[in-house]
Amino acid sequence: MSNHLKIVETKMLAEKIFLVRLKSETIAKSAVPGQFINIKCCDGLDAFLRRPISILRTDPYEGTFDFVFMVKGKGTDILSRLKCDDFIDCMGPLGKGFTLPVKGEKVWVVGGGIGIFPLFFLLERSTDVQKTSFLGFRAKDSIVLQNEFERVSDKVIITTDDGSYGIHGLVTKPFLERLEREKPDKVYTCGPMPMIKSIAEICIERGIFCEVSMEQRMGCGIGACLVCACKVKHGDDFEYEHVCKDGPVFPAERLIF
Ligand SMILES: Cc1cc2nc3c(=O)[nH]c(=O)nc-3n(C[C@H](O)[C@H](O)[C@H](O)COP(=O)(O)OP(=O)(O)OC[C@H]3O[C@@H](n4cnc5c(N)ncnc54)[C@H](O)[C@@H]3O)c2cc1C
Ligand code: FES
Repeated sequence: MSNHLKIVETKMLAEKIFLVRLKSETIAKSAVPGQFINIKCCDGLDAFLRRPISILRTDPYEGTFDFVFMVKGKGTDILSRLKCDDFIDCMGPLGKGFTLPVKGEKVWVVGGGIGIFPLFFLLERSTDVQKTSFLGFRAKDSIVLQNEFERVSDKVIITTDDGSYGIHGLVTKPFLERLEREKPDKVYTCGPMPMIKSIAEICIERGIFCEVSMEQRMGCGIGACLVCACKVKHGDDFEYEHVCKDGPVFPAERLIF
């Protein structure tokens, strides 16, 4: 199921943030928003487990797809050194994606840091809907894909933790302020745990449809190990599901944070 895919473009978007374009007719044609690829970063023991990265967008005509990643540790550091014409060992597309909105709906996406990438694919694929993006970054110099988000959204609201650009503070702040004035039909969120927990709770409390994409650590990526187990509600009880196979996208009301 894994393939060695050729890199056709790499670009540094900001410090430690890179875009990679890979050639794959299969992924370009079949991937849906919210799905991810699981990458083997090297052959040795340095980064033994595969690393999951969301699909940012596909180009079915060119037979390519893009992903963007932030260098966090060994695996992503190795990835950041790869060049055009190198090959990456990839499995995918994996996981279950977002429920796409239907025509005429009001859609809000709320992303923080690396959580913005799967949301971009969702916005690009959602047509005939009204789209607002709430994007939270650490600081001005970590903002990426602003123009691209503006292209696929009706409105983009940016927050930075240090106030160096946009609204100062957490992305939940403008989200809550806007909720006082209007109600979206669907909310989609991905990012740091405190952020997605808070967005999920706000939506559940107000009866708003909300889907959450989880950024759990992973191993196999196909449901064969237990690295990605996550506790979800099951009737009055709970059970463990695999984020890689049963997710990474879950209805907010099913998650136990
Ligand atoms: C479904 C899914 C989609 C993802 N999509 C993207 C994406 O589009 N772009 C992107 O940059 N990252 C994405 N991630 C996160 C990415 O997988 C991790 O950042 C990466 O595995 C880190 O590997 P590493 O070897 O560089 O770091 P490690 O050496 O393994 O760890 C370095 C640091 O990163 C933290 N870390 C490791 N794995 C994760 C994780 N899964 N989530 C959060 N923190 C982690 C560790 O706790 C540690 O502090 C996604 C994760 C999942 C589960
Ligand atoms: S990563 Fe192995 S079961 Fe999910």
